[in-house]
Amino acid sequence: MELDERITAAEMQGGEEELEVSLRPRRFSDYIGQKTVTDNLKVFIEAAKMRGEPLDHVLFYGPPGLGKTTLAGIIANELDVNIRVTSGPAIDRAADLAAILTNLNTGDVLFIDEIHRLNRSVEEVLYSAMEDYALDIMIGKGPSARSLRLDLARFTLIGATTRAGSLSAPLRDRFGVINKFELYNKEELGQILSRSADILGIPIDDASLDELARCSRGTPRVANRLLKRVRDFSQVVGNGIIDEKITVKTLKALGVDRKGLENLDREILTTIIRYFGGGPVGIDAIAAAVGEERITIEDAYEPYLIQQGFLLRTPKGRVVTREAYLHLGLPVPEEL
Ligand code: ADE
Repeated sequence: MELDERITAAEMQGGEEELEVSLRPRRFSDYIGQKTVTDNLKVFIEAAKMRGEPLDHVLFYGPPGLGKTTLAGIIANELDVNIRVTSGPAIDRAADLAAILTNLNTGDVLFIDEIHRLNRSVEEVLYSAMEDYALDIMIGKGPSARSLRLDLARFTLIGATTRAGSLSAPLRDRFGVINKFELYNKEELGQILSRSADILGIPIDDASLDELARCSRGTPRVANRLLKRVRDFSQVVGNGIIDEKITVKTLKALGVDRKGLENLDREILTTIIRYFGGGPVGIDAIAAAVGEERITIEDAYEPYLIQQGFLLRTPKGRVVTREAYLHLGLPVPEEL
């Protein structure tokens, strides 16, 4: 199954933008979790406002679906400035970035999602823009070519990436604030689900909130998607009210187990057990065996499997834990 068709995929899927926007908190007071990140940002925003300066450039990294874009929007709201949202792959040429930068006003936020996917020539334009708020433009060709420096408004760049390791050192070094997003715990996901159910007007009991929170892979985007599917089931095969019975039925129909794992998660674990003796095994061998891209497994699957204690990342390769055998109902090898 394609990643973008999975019910538990953390990546945004077609037609979901509207849902996300309607559920997106606009202020820190509505934003649940990521407390270290938000506590620090509140201080930096306050300080920048007191000095009458733009906020320093901010980098967010961590697995998809954890609210990086949402938090960028909140920062812009709290700073009372405009935000321009784009992404690494959407900026093809240096001239595209120059056009975006020259349209920013003082203090504005430029949000670049998937910033690790900017191409080299675009990235180089960003260096002087971030450091000196200037654009260096080459005019003409050959011996008569000269360089022209164009001043930009003092802006704040917020970059987001699922892979901090893929960012070039010169780019990474130009961010004054670097924040890691963590997977959400069950209580936080329960609160997010409860808030979403309220906004969408979905009646749901505590047991269902609990069950959905447990199966959401630590990811609000997954939680909100599951909530919508449970609502569908409750309307068609239930009485419109979401209770535990309907919730369990929905999760079962979607192939999501009690720990939030779905087919490919289980396949990754069983592949390591069946073909590689439980590990250690390299990520490329796993990717080839399950027929997925390495990046997909690393970014979208492993963080949750590791957080749940089913998988270890060791210097020699990936290793399946005793808990994984137990969860899959397989006999635990003696050495574990
Ligand atoms: N929706 C998505 N992420 C959220 C968060 N962290 N808090 C509240 N609602 C959210």
